[in-house]
Amino acid sequence: MYVKSTPPATNHSLAMSILESHLKGALRPDFSWGYATAAAQIEGAWNVDGKGESIWDRLGHTPGKIKDSSTADDATRAYDFYKEDVALMKSYGVRAYRFSLAWSRIIPLGGKDDPVNPKGIEFYNNLINELIANGIVPFVTLFHWDIPQALEDRYGGMLNKEKYTPDFLRYARVCFEAFGDRVKNWITYNEPGVYSLAGYAAGVHAPGRSSNRELNEEGDSSTEPFIVSHTELVSHAYCVKMYREDFKPTQKGTIMITLHGNYSTPWDDTDPLDIEAAQRAREFEIAWFGDPVYKTGDYPASMRAQLGDRLPRFTEEESKLVLGSSDFYGMNSYTTFFVKHKKTPPEPKDHVGNVEKLDTNSKGESRGPESDTYWLRTNPWGLRQLLNWIWNRYKVPIFMTENGTTAKGEHVDAPPSEDILNDKHRIEFFNGYLNALAGAVKEDGVDIRSYFVWTFTDNWEWAAGYTDRFGVTWIDYNSPEKKRYPKKSATVVRELFEHLIAKE
Ligand code: NOJ
Repeated sequence: MYVKSTPPATNHSLAMSILESHLKGALRPDFSWGYATAAAQIEGAWNVDGKGESIWDRLGHTPGKIKDSSTADDATRAYDFYKEDVALMKSYGVRAYRFSLAWSRIIPLGGKDDPVNPKGIEFYNNLINELIANGIVPFVTLFHWDIPQALEDRYGGMLNKEKYTPDFLRYARVCFEAFGDRVKNWITYNEPGVYSLAGYAAGVHAPGRSSNRELNEEGDSSTEPFIVSHTELVSHAYCVKMYREDFKPTQKGTIMITLHGNYSTPWDDTDPLDIEAAQRAREFEIAWFGDPVYKTGDYPASMRAQLGDRLPRFTEEESKLVLGSSDFYGMNSYTTFFVKHKKTPPEPKDHVGNVEKLDTNSKGESRGPESDTYWLRTNPWGLRQLLNWIWNRYKVPIFMTENGTTAKGEHVDAPPSEDILNDKHRIEFFNGYLNALAGAVKEDGVDIRSYFVWTFTDNWEWAAGYTDRFGVTWIDYNSPEKKRYPKKSATVVRELFEHLIAKE
């Protein structure tokens, strides 16, 4: 199914001229790198071999909810072509692969007393075995946004912490029992904050709830995102406790949570109010989860001050459980914003710390070259600042679990021209960001242990459908086999890591 013709010629000078030579060997010899994906975005086979419906299947089948009116029914057909995908990834030189399990493929109705689907277990066993046979280390995410629809219908999913937590724990237990002999790197939740903000504040992601009655029939943007995030944190902590007590002693793996977070920098860096606003924005976005898990067992004071009782409170037991509940700092980051303080009091629907996020600063400087995604611009400087900010605040080794970009002009008919596959914008993005990462390690002393590119192939970008192409592999969505065409960035990323990782 892959294009057999030679991928575009490697232009060593492009990668290497930008890559700073003094960073050669900056990363530790056992540094993990590879690609990251999520089940709902790639697998397809949405109702095949006993899989149950997820909230994203439901949203995708609801008219008007997805930008290009597409569904993820087939996506890239990774369910059917997992062997070919592992082979392609191997040809890209990866050491590791981060993917997620579809809860409703494993337990179609999701609940603690619901039956397990043997075909679902079999699929992930096959994938894990194929990876290991090819020398690729699996990093497995339990929850990447696709809760079984049945749990949403039964009790409102994560709005109901008491009912939800035992269901999540049972699902996790089934996974640890089935795969934990070979999977040693577990991630409980992917971006709990984006799940709650996009799904319960903006209402544009599944399950599609918000205060906006033009968009959603139900929901309350001023409270539900915080309730749902609280459920994620608490159920994550119970899951880690279970793993550490019942599985870690024999399986000897590690477990963490992956948080989202872009960098916020002052719009006017001479204005104390903007400096404070940028710090507050980082706390609302990142420390919302980071502080309870790595620092205090509680939410940041800036959030409590603005949100009051709309922000749930941890019981003493929860607080103790949550603090220290992640072996490492799992980090997804893409971009940087200029942040300006607001002069008006915060509105109830504010989730960002009462700030404005802008593309240019007070001097008119841009936050970076545009991608094909409205919120994403290239800004390697911001990544380095952010790595330092997280390291200084939490002092926990960082696993970067996602970073990448779209590039303009990739929406063409197949076959894509050599020019399209020569994805200069993405190559420059990786050059810049990997230099920043290596610089943070070598010059700033930040402990960074992995980097996963988002993403392996173009895929279904949630509510944006197929309109955002994030892959280092171009997909022909019109071909029945979703033909894969390697972009040049796949080669360049490999070269960058060959340069940056120290030899044993
Ligand atoms: C973060 C999410 O984890 C992933 O699913 C998404 O596709 C990328 N960001 C790009 O938006």
